[in-house]
Amino acid sequence: MSNIDDSIRNDPQSNVISRRDLIKGVIVGGVAVSSASYLFRAPTLVAQNARGTGERLLTINVNGQMRRADVMRQETLAWTLRHKLGLTGTKLGCDRAECGSCTVLIDGVPHYSCSVLTHTVRDRKVLTIEGLASSDGMLHPVQQGVIDEQGFQCAFCMPGFIMASVAFLKANPNPTRSQLAQGLSGNLCRCQDYDKILTAMMRGAENMRRASRA
Ligand code: FES
Ligand code: FES
Repeated sequence: MSNIDDSIRNDPQSNVISRRDLIKGVIVGGVAVSSASYLFRAPTLVAQNARGTGERLLTINVNGQMRRADVMRQETLAWTLRHKLGLTGTKLGCDRAECGSCTVLIDGVPHYSCSVLTHTVRDRKVLTIEGLASSDGMLHPVQQGVIDEQGFQCAFCMPGFIMASVAFLKANPNPTRSQLAQGLSGNLCRCQDYDKILTAMMRGAENMRRASRA
């Protein structure tokens, strides 16, 4: 039996793929596919869409407005917000539920929008960093806290931290520094500016308490 296998494997004219070739192909092919979908996600999505993978018009409540967008079945909320609705304040860092930079509030609860399918939020209220300030342009107390303390270095992670803080502080208006740090542990900062960020968020908490007393 093994002689037959070897003869097939060594025959350049044979169309039969050896087991070793098959395994090599799966490994290389699998890596190539997963890398391509990560590195070239936009063209991949466009190509899928062109093949008609079920894009349909959805209406979702974002920042108090009913917004309409053509959304694919597998499309994430982060993708829709940034590329369909132009709300680029929501950042995409890891795109795999690890860094928190895409955090938005859904019905007041923080979520990684890179890991939420858009079609699941049709009957819910989405709040992004663009919707935090009041209509007269007054910043949210947590946003003001960032300005007061000059928090953040490059600020890529800032929208996610602010959205997570707003949700945490609503439930815990008077946290200690370590409680707030724990509450924000789902958000990462590539600049590792955690001390300054926490100081800014603590100031935001103070601003929120002051605003609620006014
Ligand atoms: S981009 Fe969503 S968690 Fe990192
Ligand atoms: S300040 Fe740069 S990633 Fe956080």
